[in-house]
Amino acid sequence: MGRLAVSFTGLRFDNPFLLSSAPPTESEQNILRAFDAGWGGVVTKTIGLHPVVNVAGPKTKFFRATPDSTQISMKKRSGAALHSSWNWELISDKTLDWWVPRIGRIKKAHPAQVLVASIMAGSGSDAELRHWQTLARACQDEGADALELNLSCPHMDRPDMGSNIGKDTEVIEIVCRAVKEVARVPVWAKLTPSTTDIAVEARGAFLGGADAISSSNTFPSLPLIDPETLEFEMNVDGFVSSGGLGGLAILPLSLAKMAQLTQAFPDKAFSGIGGIAEFSHALNYFLLGCGTVQVCTAAMLDHAVGPNVVRRLVSGMTETMDRYGWKTLDDFIGLRRTRIVAHSQIRRPDGESYHGGYEAEGYSTAEAHSRGVEG
Ligand SMILES: Cc1cc2nc3c(=O)[nH]c(=O)nc-3n(C[C@H](O)[C@H](O)[C@H](O)COP(=O)(O)O)c2cc1C
Repeated sequence: MGRLAVSFTGLRFDNPFLLSSAPPTESEQNILRAFDAGWGGVVTKTIGLHPVVNVAGPKTKFFRATPDSTQISMKKRSGAALHSSWNWELISDKTLDWWVPRIGRIKKAHPAQVLVASIMAGSGSDAELRHWQTLARACQDEGADALELNLSCPHMDRPDMGSNIGKDTEVIEIVCRAVKEVARVPVWAKLTPSTTDIAVEARGAFLGGADAISSSNTFPSLPLIDPETLEFEMNVDGFVSSGGLGGLAILPLSLAKMAQLTQAFPDKAFSGIGGIAEFSHALNYFLLGCGTVQVCTAAMLDHAVGPNVVRRLVSGMTETMDRYGWKTLDDFIGLRRTRIVAHSQIRRPDGESYHGGYEAEGYSTAEAHSRGVEG
């Protein structure tokens, strides 16, 4: 295990694999099982101060794809492969008072493993900013090793919460600064992927003092309409609301977000999330510059806390390090970060025929048009 150990935002992890804030981390029992299974860290299900009531019926379902066809559906059928998760679950419906003794007990049982408390409050008033501070103090006083600020939940109606504030770089900065005022532990900001250039929001987080950025949360999305019934595959009384897509389908999308982040801030700390089920997936995030990665969907489908997933991640990392002669993560973190370049910098088959810019690219000359050939 020793050589998989990493240091991230000043904390030591046995390995860089964390369970992200989600159902696998919503109870004391799950978190203890996760540490026993070998996860290097756990981010709790997001804790807030406002009352939380989830929708009636299922909160998460899984899209599956049928091989040799273009069908994806949430319907269970044999031979189908996982495509993604879709959820409209809110943050923890347990109170801060419920969480506080549990954080203390988990840390006593596993003092050397990293427990990150995910927290969320509003941002529309000083009172709401004080809620962030109340949450931060309560969690760190019980031994939480770091705080992750949920600025990214995609299904919140309140305009001053979740991804609604994760789109506003000034509010992000204000919230991060408010938490940093009271934090004695590292503060990670979990940003929403649903903006144009996530580096803009990251700048706000770093200006506010954030020690790291976590990305991605789930992507805004809808379930599909069943052509047999004309109902959404997931609905309550026929109605649906925008929810979040996670799992394998978002891996390339999350990587694009992470590349924007690590290229804009090559010296900062990043925790990569989105679509990880195997070490080959996690490797992408490390090669782009992440110091840790987090997993949700794959763990949900593996005995609720992912014992087999973490075993595969650990063995995959060990084998890959042996193969390339890498001694620690430091030997390969960020190795491919600079390989993402402007489109015009990608070599053309024939340099002479490339016009070198958008002015000429793709247009044929009038003369060539009249001859009916490409210019
Ligand atoms: C059912 C469900 C509940 C989630 N709840 C939270 C949450 O409370 N706080 C949070 O920051 N992210 C939450 N997430 C997002 C995950 O932590 C993670 O960012 C996302 O699922 C992408 O990772 P994945 O592709 O491994 O699933 C949730 C995801 C799912 C599927």
